[in-house]
Amino acid sequence: MKRPLRPLLSILLLVVIAITLSCRIAVRRGTIGSIQPENDVALVEKPVVPVSNTTLLKLAAIDIGEAQFQQEIEQLLEGSFGKQGRHRSFLSSGRFNHLDIRSPQSYRLWLDVRRNLHDWSRKKRFQPDIMSELVNLVKLPIDRHNGFVGSERRYSSCAVVGNSGILLKSEYGQLIDSHEVVIRLNNARTVSFEHDVGSKTSISFVNSNILLLCARREGCFCHPYGVTVPIVMYVCQGVHFWDYTVCSSSHKAPLLITDPRFDVLCTRIVKYYSLKRFAEVIKKPLEEWDTAHDGSMFHYSSGMQAVVLALGICDKVSIFGFGKSTSAKHHYHTNQKAELHLHDYEAEYDFYHDLVKRPEAIPFILDKFKIPPVFPMRWAT
Ligand SMILES: *[C@@H]1O[C@H](CO)[C@@H](O)[C@H](O)[C@H]1NC(C)=O
Repeated sequence: MKRPLRPLLSILLLVVIAITLSCRIAVRRGTIGSIQPENDVALVEKPVVPVSNTTLLKLAAIDIGEAQFQQEIEQLLEGSFGKQGRHRSFLSSGRFNHLDIRSPQSYRLWLDVRRNLHDWSRKKRFQPDIMSELVNLVKLPIDRHNGFVGSERRYSSCAVVGNSGILLKSEYGQLIDSHEVVIRLNNARTVSFEHDVGSKTSISFVNSNILLLCARREGCFCHPYGVTVPIVMYVCQGVHFWDYTVCSSSHKAPLLITDPRFDVLCTRIVKYYSLKRFAEVIKKPLEEWDTAHDGSMFHYSSGMQAVVLALGICDKVSIFGFGKSTSAKHHYHTNQKAELHLHDYEAEYDFYHDLVKRPEAIPFILDKFKIPPVFPMRWAT
């Protein structure tokens, strides 16, 4: 790609992101809002009585978009990926304008895409026990990549770093880097912000729209934190398996896809909090939730899933840069002015709040899974 085109292209790509609605994109990270600094206290209690409300549990378990999802996957598996107009992938990047699926090279790629997509879509179901498998699914491959023999041990401490502007002037950099593992979101850059956000990155957590941008670059370059940093990605749309398949071969570090069972669990949790908030705070009938939230497209943010991932692989989780303030920039690293309104962030704050204050209230996560202590770190506003 010629250099002068880059700025224009970047803008176009951002527009593409903004309109790719079937995945609630998280260019911006979630925020905690109401949680006050809790630097050394986290309550983890065993449930005494079930605190979840069965009506909400039932509604949250309904996946309105399921039929449409299955239909799209079937179409993709049949090879009609080119006709899905609203989808964006590697195929529409221009680099492969003349991709001819009948050529031997493309055909081999297509078979891989098909296999990956097939394996992924077959796994999609609700299985809350997935929380106990995250060490095996995510930590083990990363340990191996780092030259350690994998162990069942969880990381002793993790920092999940959101991208909120409240990080500016926080001077949290050193504290963040002192965690055994630092998880960053959607390739937010750290260069020139090290003092406030740190410079260490152990896991780069992204959604597949981010990889889509990378797939257009030479060698799928997607490594603001260095080429050896493992990437964990959730797939927003089946068609993104083109990008994944093309890029995974050129990646030196693991490029791991979140297990669909883990995706389903996160979706349910956020939907539960969104329904609860809808009834209790917005005070609207639950039947209207689908319309208000465009139910079939409803999605958690990357920040939320990264936090839940950390619950599964860490003994202690600190959350930085989740939270907003009228006096702070929206993102620490961009000039974006406001929320994209693509997720129910308020519901996600409610979830984080329970995570810190009353983890026993969190629905869908099995009692036998021990939720580690969570510490929200925020710069006073
Ligand atoms: C469950 O929550 C909904 C919405 O907040 C409420 O209308 C309903 O009364 C609750 N049910 C129970 C059994 O608490």
